[in-house]
Amino acid sequence: MNECVIVIFGITGDLAKRKLIPAIYHLIADKKITNVAIVGVGLEDTMNVSSILTAARPFIAHPDEEIMQYLSEHMHYQPMNFLDTASYAGLKKSIEQLEKKDRLPGNRLFYLASAADFFCTITTALGDSGLAQRLTEKQPFWHRIVYEKPFGYDLSSAHVINTCIQKYFDENQIYRIDHYLTKELVSNIALIRFTNCIFEPLWNNQYISQVQVILSESGGIEGRGLYYDGYGALRDVVQNHMLELIALIAMEAPTKLTGDFIREQRARVLEKIIMVDGMRGQYSGYTEEKNVKANSTTETFAVLQLKINNPRWSGVPFYLKTGKKLDKKETIIHIKFKQVDCLLMRGCPIESNWLTLRVAPDATVSLSLNAKKPGKSDEIVPISMEFSHSAVFGNPGSEKSYETLFEEVMRGEQSVSVRFDEIEYAWRVIDMIDKARLPLYSYAPGSCGPTEVVQFESKHGMRWKS
Ligand code: BG6
Repeated sequence: MNECVIVIFGITGDLAKRKLIPAIYHLIADKKITNVAIVGVGLEDTMNVSSILTAARPFIAHPDEEIMQYLSEHMHYQPMNFLDTASYAGLKKSIEQLEKKDRLPGNRLFYLASAADFFCTITTALGDSGLAQRLTEKQPFWHRIVYEKPFGYDLSSAHVINTCIQKYFDENQIYRIDHYLTKELVSNIALIRFTNCIFEPLWNNQYISQVQVILSESGGIEGRGLYYDGYGALRDVVQNHMLELIALIAMEAPTKLTGDFIREQRARVLEKIIMVDGMRGQYSGYTEEKNVKANSTTETFAVLQLKINNPRWSGVPFYLKTGKKLDKKETIIHIKFKQVDCLLMRGCPIESNWLTLRVAPDATVSLSLNAKKPGKSDEIVPISMEFSHSAVFGNPGSEKSYETLFEEVMRGEQSVSVRFDEIEYAWRVIDMIDKARLPLYSYAPGSCGPTEVVQFESKHGMRWKS
């Protein structure tokens, strides 16, 4: 199943050199792909296979020359304008030649690492040219199309793309991917919840008082001004990564812990999210970044309070915080349990329990409990029980998102892909936030965000857990 042609639209872009080519390199190195041809499609006439691999090399740690040589022999560069539908015949010919040369079985993975504006045109051309076909069960090969985020700009544009691509392909061939769904700890959330009977009885508004999801980045926009200034933090990471984290935390038990069963339950949560409050921020110096408008009001930071309008979560606030150029790089989920009645003679009130799922930079799960301080006293102190991925499995468990993504698409596993309705529900939340016209404050790079966050905290009687 992993013998295939991988066609990357946008091979000369940032994502291809930083993530996609290194991921393919590692899959070859780990022998997870044994026979592959890579076709890179890009606009530039001046690029070639050698310049593409040279650009990707710094993002591959200690490249092995034999594998680099394999890549250069099995990669083909096709310069073409994605909008020129006539040129897809030439692309088809190149792919067929490569399949013949490398005796590939006809499996094709099309990776659209281009702007969402091109998704409909490229998909239409793939379908019309026969490069990718709607398949029946009987065909011994597969054709799958991967759409990189952001999938649209708002609900209506996402709906237009969905309608367009569904004319050509079945939902089981379509992968609207979110690399967060492949992160070790993220794919573990549902498993931890549903394979341990100690969590599920407590997983509701009777016992949980709030949830915090924090995606904090120390880096800035890293030369991506043209893209970022049009999207901002809400569209760049909230619409996808953060809402999917909430969906996984809040979903009901799926019939089975796979593919469409999980997607169905994630969709049911996203459908019920409402926006309650929030504020936005922009780091000072942002408007001097390359390709950013001098008067830009695009947010590089946001805090939000969302709620989920269903019986399980009614009344529980879900707090989100994200930002670029903050004091640290960390993605973390804190789940706060309600306080117990204090039966002690003294030393009350005691701490609530927190379950903390740290997604990155390393994967850990910790549970804070209350215990007696050693000695005779009945003084209570918080203690922590921790599972660390690196301590148990020998690696941090967070670095292989794009490799896992390719593997899962090649396997046909759809839980890494966001279903058509899920993505529209998530955009609906962003539309709701847009309508609220949240205020924008400035913050110093390297800080925890705008100082006004304190007002948000006191208004909601909460504190961000550090
Ligand atoms: C990407 C965003 O989807 O996710 C980036 O476009 C962001 O702006 C990145 O930096 C964060 O992903 P990770 O895996 O580094 O946490």
